[in-house]
Amino acid sequence: MAEQNSTPDFVRPVLVPIEGVQIQSNFAANWDRVKVFQAKPDDLLIATYPKAGTTWVSEIVDLINNKGDTEKCKRAPTHERVAFLEFGAPKPLPIGVEQAAKMPSPRMIKTHLPYQLVPKSFWEQNCKVIYVARNAKDNVVSYYHFDKMNRIQSNPGTWEEYFENFIEGNVSFGSWYDHVKNWWENKDRHRILYMFYEDMKKDLRKEILRVVHFLEKELPDEIIDKIVHHTTFEVMKENPMANYSSLAGAGFLDHKMSHFMRKGSVGDWKNYFTVAQNERFDADYKKKMEGAMLKFVTEL
Ligand code: A3P
Repeated sequence: MAEQNSTPDFVRPVLVPIEGVQIQSNFAANWDRVKVFQAKPDDLLIATYPKAGTTWVSEIVDLINNKGDTEKCKRAPTHERVAFLEFGAPKPLPIGVEQAAKMPSPRMIKTHLPYQLVPKSFWEQNCKVIYVARNAKDNVVSYYHFDKMNRIQSNPGTWEEYFENFIEGNVSFGSWYDHVKNWWENKDRHRILYMFYEDMKKDLRKEILRVVHFLEKELPDEIIDKIVHHTTFEVMKENPMANYSSLAGAGFLDHKMSHFMRKGSVGDWKNYFTVAQNERFDADYKKKMEGAMLKFVTEL
């Protein structure tokens, strides 16, 4: 296993187009198996563009399913409680489809796939899906830091390069713009709950209640209060079963470079975007999002 500060065991993957969407090569290598993945009717799919709040909503769902029992939710780290569908990595890390196949039902499965690439069995089985979207500016900043700290992600390059690549969809899972729009446009065709990271920051209780309702559960107020407390950024950041510190030994996440639970805020982009970048981003955003009903806030 590589030590924290050495990289030889981890070759940064390149991006490979899968049906027109850039996906990092370790994940793309599994595509034939992902495509035919067999979903079950009681699977819950948690779908996001990377860094939009996957871990956050996963913790919320697990707490709801376990009636707010925080100890039960500490039975294993997030990546063991939730199978990452398209995950692929150099051996000995397990690949996502194999992990999912071994999991007992009801399963929590996460994906970053754009809507059109989701294995069709999820729709045939009428699975419930929770999609979380995050405003593009905070999303790109978070993704940049993640790609820097995660040695099994493609090389992010400089911030300036990353910024351009994100706009062009040249990052793993492709265009943020297409991702959020396609999921939005198809949300009423299936059982999809479309959520926003910014709404969760603004009123976590309200958004947790939306999830409770979507999962057809009933929980007393005091349990809801407990779930709200346990899923605040401050508490999750200190929870070793939710902050990815448990993967430190695997050597590919460099928490010295950046924490997985980094800032957890809305508006951090202002610390990274130059005035010129912001103008360029806004002008391009307007074109790409023209006609979309989807509206994001970039500050609270
Ligand atoms: P930042 O890098 O902006 O801090 P994902 O789980 O999809 O990979 O997303 C990770 C992002 O969600 C990180 O954003 C992380 O800090 C943030 N996050 C995770 N849990 C959170 C919480 N409870 N409240 C707010 N943000 C959270």
